[in-house]
Amino acid sequence: MEHITVLLEKAIEQLNIKEDGIYVDCTLGGAGHSSLILSKLKSGHLYSFDQDDFAINIAKERLDKIGKNYTIIRSNFVNIKSELEKLGVTKVDGILYDLGVSSFQFDDAKRGFSYNSDAKLDMRMDSSKDFSAHDIVNKYSYDELVRIFYMYGEEPFSKQIARKIIENRPINTTLELVDVIKKALPQKVLNSKGHPAKRIFQALRIEVNDELKVFEKSLNDVINLLNIDGRVVVISFHSLEDRVCKTIFKDNSTINIPKGLPIINKELPKLELITKHPITPSIDELENNNRAHSAKMRVARRQI
Ligand SMILES: C[S@@+](CC[C@H](N)C(=O)[O-])C[C@H]1O[C@@H](n2cnc3c(N)ncnc32)[C@H](O)[C@@H]1O
Repeated sequence: MEHITVLLEKAIEQLNIKEDGIYVDCTLGGAGHSSLILSKLKSGHLYSFDQDDFAINIAKERLDKIGKNYTIIRSNFVNIKSELEKLGVTKVDGILYDLGVSSFQFDDAKRGFSYNSDAKLDMRMDSSKDFSAHDIVNKYSYDELVRIFYMYGEEPFSKQIARKIIENRPINTTLELVDVIKKALPQKVLNSKGHPAKRIFQALRIEVNDELKVFEKSLNDVINLLNIDGRVVVISFHSLEDRVCKTIFKDNSTINIPKGLPIINKELPKLELITKHPITPSIDELENNNRAHSAKMRVARRQI
């Protein structure tokens, strides 16, 4: 299935692109956002990160039709600071994250992201890494499974599911795992809306790719890469990612003066929050793009 970019125009509008600026797309994917950024640059340059070779190949073909002033960096965006430094880039004018997996990855059954089609348990965004969902499901202790299911899946039946997984090992494929999850859940949950394996699959994906820690480190680093007036735009798809973004933006847009101390020189915080509340897709977009339903976009501007 084609990947339909979420919040395409709204995200690019928020980047406030200058034609001679330096921009970074941390999540190139099918190059939806990157293409629009590149089309707005003249003497500026775009650096786009992805850790997935398939995404990079598709994106390159698309970007070549628009311009030459771009560089694709095949790396995890956790390395953004060091990777840009290698290329002599220490300051940028705008940074975008459109988190998660693309439809190409989700719909490619053999990548093991989907609970709807059978495949080896995998879920690696970077296929060159050794650690996959198979290792977690078959090697983690009961306590480790419960921890990630609660923390990353917010799954109320984490203990029951962890116990069933351990009883049914080895579990090799996505649909075998879905069956085990179903066996652990009460009938009323199986009858309710939403796929019964959704939360566990989310937890496994986050753990395999270390998604929250990677995003947290990267976002903290990029604030220091921004030029004054530069913007960072984050599109997230679940409450855990959104919480990381909200916390980092809040910590960097407020100054804590200990109670009782006088305010002498009113120092400004590094960031100005552009979005007090997250921007969400329009009704039109929601009707045309299923992936857009849980999307939230937050924007901040470097002010000092
Ligand atoms: C939702 S898609 C981006 C779609 C893109 N904005 C578009 O319009 O086509 C996310 C992409 O980011 C990549 N990605 C996710 N986390 C990453 C990370 N930590 N480092 C590098 N790439 C990452 C995924 O491999 C995927 O291709």
